[in-house]
Amino acid sequence: MVVYLPSLTLFCDSLWTKKMCGAVVLFVFMCLTATTHADHHQPCHSPNMTGLMNVMSLKGDKIAQGTFAYDSMGKKLRFRSNESYPTNTSLGLDLLMLFEEGIFYEIDSKNQSCEKKKLQMLLHPLDIPDDSRFYTTMTAGSASIEGEGLKINIWTGSIPHMKGHYSMSVTMGCLPVSTFYFTETTTLLFSNMEVELEIKDPHLLVVPPFCHGEPVEDTPEGTVNSFLNEFM
Ligand SMILES: *[C@@H]1O[C@H](CO)[C@@H](O)[C@H](O)[C@H]1NC(C)=O
Ligand SMILES: *[C@@H]1O[C@H](CO)[C@@H](O)[C@H](O)[C@H]1NC(C)=O
Ligand SMILES: *[C@@H]1O[C@H](CO)[C@@H](O)[C@H](O)[C@H]1NC(C)=O
Ligand SMILES: *[C@@H]1O[C@H](CO)[C@@H](O)[C@H](O)[C@H]1NC(C)=O
Repeated sequence: MVVYLPSLTLFCDSLWTKKMCGAVVLFVFMCLTATTHADHHQPCHSPNMTGLMNVMSLKGDKIAQGTFAYDSMGKKLRFRSNESYPTNTSLGLDLLMLFEEGIFYEIDSKNQSCEKKKLQMLLHPLDIPDDSRFYTTMTAGSASIEGEGLKINIWTGSIPHMKGHYSMSVTMGCLPVSTFYFTETTTLLFSNMEVELEIKDPHLLVVPPFCHGEPVEDTPEGTVNSFLNEFM
């Protein structure tokens, strides 16, 4: 649009009164500002990360906590749960998600076995989907006291293959803080803590040798496999 400004000035000189021209130029600048504003709200993509992830069903019946490693370029995620309350259902859950390939592994390191499955849905709590809608910017805690606030952007969208929607909050540097998934049957809350901007243990994102050659399991009719479905 900047390109048009000189020609607009020419147009002004030849045809319009200075006053009308001022209004047009102001309008053009308002459009430019609005465009810049919209550009600013393109979903960002999280960097490489290592951290702790907490998963909670808001019915209170399932809580899991574990460590994660995330490769943002390679679109790979490893999550290993080491705590699960009040039941032990998610204890030892070990997932290697390969979003680019559209598959994932459920790994059992103890007996060196794994299951390889197809992903029906790529949604996960460490990346904002490209079609996400910007909702708002807000400060958790205090906006006025230095060091006592966390400024976050909130993004929303619908969950494919399910009736539901999500709400993701990320820091200004695009670190995901928490994500809600609201579905007909449950509400899941994923939150991240102690995040560091590196993959501390790159081998965690490599398919373990004992998983090589594993066939892709059939997905039963009506089943949706995804990262969040592992906690439903
Ligand atoms: C993220 O990690 C992957 C795998 O270790 C690496 O190839 C990539 O360069 C890293 N990206 C950045 C921005 O550090
Ligand atoms: C689970 O792993 C985290 C991170 O390594 C650690 O802080 C926590 O104590 C572990 N919990 C259990 C029950 O081992
Ligand atoms: C969960 O696992 C822990 C540690 O293995 C065990 O002490 C506890 O009894 C288990 N709880 C249930 C409800 O199975
Ligand atoms: C490994 O353990 C899991 C559950 O603990 C079990 O379902 C699976 O059959 C075991 N695989 C082998 C090869 O023993």
